[in-house]
Amino acid sequence: MLAPTDAFRTSVCAILRWGPADVMLTSHGYHGKMYFCIVHQHNTIMNLNSILVHTHSGLRWVALILIVMTVIRAGNLMSSKENFEFRTKSLALFAMIAMHIQAAIGLVLYVISPTVQFGATTMKDSTLRFFAVEHIAMMLIALVLFTIGYSKSKKKTENRAKYKTVFWFYLIGLLVVLASIPWPFRGLGAGWF
Ligand code: HEM
Repeated sequence: MLAPTDAFRTSVCAILRWGPADVMLTSHGYHGKMYFCIVHQHNTIMNLNSILVHTHSGLRWVALILIVMTVIRAGNLMSSKENFEFRTKSLALFAMIAMHIQAAIGLVLYVISPTVQFGATTMKDSTLRFFAVEHIAMMLIALVLFTIGYSKSKKKTENRAKYKTVFWFYLIGLLVVLASIPWPFRGLGAGWF
């Protein structure tokens, strides 16, 4: 019996006509299966994976800069009576959009990347566990925080309350994102860009 994720990956391969699903069930586990797909698809998956990893990695800086700018701006204006105007609202919106794009790319990577593996050692190996469980779980929590923060701020009527909501939700979201990025110094095999 296939695990749900395996079944999903297998059906993705089958839909894309990479060959019958049972041929992919090698004794080498997921890596072996992926290798089969890659060989038969002239490296399409690996090229796509490489493009997406680089995009995902570089876009982190765009997302981080937008989130930091939003937090600083909302924090500065939190105690003022200034209108929750176009600039702060746009910054918060673009930060949230950047996070959604990251999540969309990340979810594709989660399905195709050889870095995400499920097996007996997944939870014992810190790198495998990080990419299979920790990274996705924490980033989804952060995404929910940004989305709730943004929509709650829109519903508030008072300006200070709007800034305060954006400030706290985005600050906590930022801390979650910073803690969940595979920074090079964490020894997870990822780079700076
Ligand atoms: C639901 C959301 C996300 C999912 C499912 C996800 C998934 C993944 C996966 C599967 C990888 C491994 C790719 C590989 O090495 O082949 C990865 C790497 C990475 N992710 Fe995410 N990710 C998400 C959100 C984010 C966000 C919001 C950021 C930053 C703002 C981020 C930053 C990174 C970085 C820096 C890497 C390392 C890229 C490299 O190897 O240089 N991720 N992510």
